[in-house]
Amino acid sequence: TRDFLIAPSILSADFARLGQEVDDVLASGADIVHFDVMDNHYVPNLTIGPMVCQALRHHGVTAPIDVHLMVRPVDRLIGDFIDAGASIITFHPEASDHIDRSLQLIRDGGCRAGLVFNPATPLSYLDYVMDKVDMVLLMSVNPGFGGQSFIPATLDKLREARRRIDASGRDIRLEVDGGVKVDNIAEIARAGADTFVAGSAVFKASNAADPHRYDGVIREF
Ligand code: DX5
Ligand code: ZN
Repeated sequence: TRDFLIAPSILSADFARLGQEVDDVLASGADIVHFDVMDNHYVPNLTIGPMVCQALRHHGVTAPIDVHLMVRPVDRLIGDFIDAGASIITFHPEASDHIDRSLQLIRDGGCRAGLVFNPATPLSYLDYVMDKVDMVLLMSVNPGFGGQSFIPATLDKLREARRRIDASGRDIRLEVDGGVKVDNIAEIARAGADTFVAGSAVFKASNAADPHRYDGVIREF
């Protein structure tokens, strides 16, 4: 059995207290920090960039930072996020003009590389680049916002992605992003996912003065 990783999406954190939010969610047992980058162009929302990633590193965050690029074009930001301390960088293949090159840029910078698939994006984008992929990220909502509902067709797609990964014989993580909750995570795991992004489900605890406010939800996962 593979080990499961919980990746809270800081999109739903309190940005005015981001360093503390990240510290607290990691202290509660989260494994990696999911960092959503939106450009108001590829997706209809605008979030955070390399400066904030670097600020988290300067704050003392040592956990892996999983940068999910929802931007077009892709390549220039890759270098910026490598310099800012990213650990994993994923991008949407249809947003890159040269998918192989973008993957190679990420790997050359010492980061793990991944492709992200929107609900209707075919997995065939993996066909000729599997040897350069360290993570496959399936969106279970349309990208752009937290708090949306899990799209059930993602379960079949997860099973297909799991088959492809196992057939490759490579050490590739299968991550799912969007609408992951305590009550559907077991079913998502059974479909083959091993890495779980959760935004609104995690960052809902209210008492900001309690550093253990995320213990319960992380443990339930
Ligand atoms: C959506 C983002 C997600 C989002 C998930 O475009 O990529 O990471 O924060 O949020 P929830 O878990 O609330 O669906
Ligand atoms: Zn994301």
